[in-house]
Amino acid sequence: MTDQKPTIVVTRKLPDAVEQRLQEKFNAKLNADDHPYTTEEMLGLVQGADAIYACHTDKLSADVIRRLPNTVRAIVNISVGVDHVDLDTAKSQGIIVTNTPGVLADATAELTMLLILAAARRAGEGERLVRSGNWNMWSPSFMLGTQVTGKRLGIIGMGGVGQVVAQRARGFAMEIHYYNRTRLASEIEQSAQYHPGYESLLPNCDFLSLHCPATPETHRLLNAERIALLPDGAIVVNAARGSVVDEGALMAALKSGKLAAAGLDVFDNEPHINSAFRELENVFLMPHVGSATRETRNAMGFMVIDNLKAIFADQEPPNRVV
Ligand code: DGY
Repeated sequence: MTDQKPTIVVTRKLPDAVEQRLQEKFNAKLNADDHPYTTEEMLGLVQGADAIYACHTDKLSADVIRRLPNTVRAIVNISVGVDHVDLDTAKSQGIIVTNTPGVLADATAELTMLLILAAARRAGEGERLVRSGNWNMWSPSFMLGTQVTGKRLGIIGMGGVGQVVAQRARGFAMEIHYYNRTRLASEIEQSAQYHPGYESLLPNCDFLSLHCPATPETHRLLNAERIALLPDGAIVVNAARGSVVDEGALMAALKSGKLAAAGLDVFDNEPHINSAFRELENVFLMPHVGSATRETRNAMGFMVIDNLKAIFADQEPPNRVV
């Protein structure tokens, strides 16, 4: 690194320990009040900057990337998903893009188990009932849910998060089925059953959990046609990205009873989600917090700094995407 510290524009408030370490190594322009920057505000702030420390709420489209000053060498993301960045344009402009794989697998798998359990056991409904003061009875047929233990869990996307979800679900004696672009080595697969396509996987899913990246290939992969292939009364959970699900088809299946329930941490158009979700009792809703533990956000934040250090030491960053 040269004597002058590179200038890094940070788009959102980071955990304190991460901001402190970033400031030791770099000239960090922090977002103290955590307000979401408009495009124009962000473009103003990055004038003369060397990198942007971004997250998935920043829409770094082709147009925005083309308007970045040529001082910007990198977009370093505190996220594993990079669907908010137009990678082709970044690449063509010679801008490095990095992400934070691996370190968020445990936290996201925990949240996924929460979605599975909460959807199956009607946790949202139960919590609303008790909190409202309207809980006034108990009977053997009151608020029956779906048992998780021993059921078949289908996983689409058996990367870092999907693999940890499989491990955790084995603790509930779930039988794991999965679809992935490439089959895992047998020592990683363990007893999970590989399916070469959605058509073979879906009829085997009492629960379906989505863990694939948002790409043109996975856009709306769970549509009406594929929901129809799930067993009646199946439960769907999504901690990946909203775009992998056709939300209209999901809501129709939740209303008709084709699906017993859903657990969702991600949506189209976050945080302004389709308000119809709020009317459905059998969907458990969380505000995109899969990796939101103190431990994991620190680890993700430090990983971004490691990438920055490598970039400004003219070394290959450990988590380069393009
Ligand atoms: C991720 O890492 O992609 C999470 O969704 C947070 O952005």
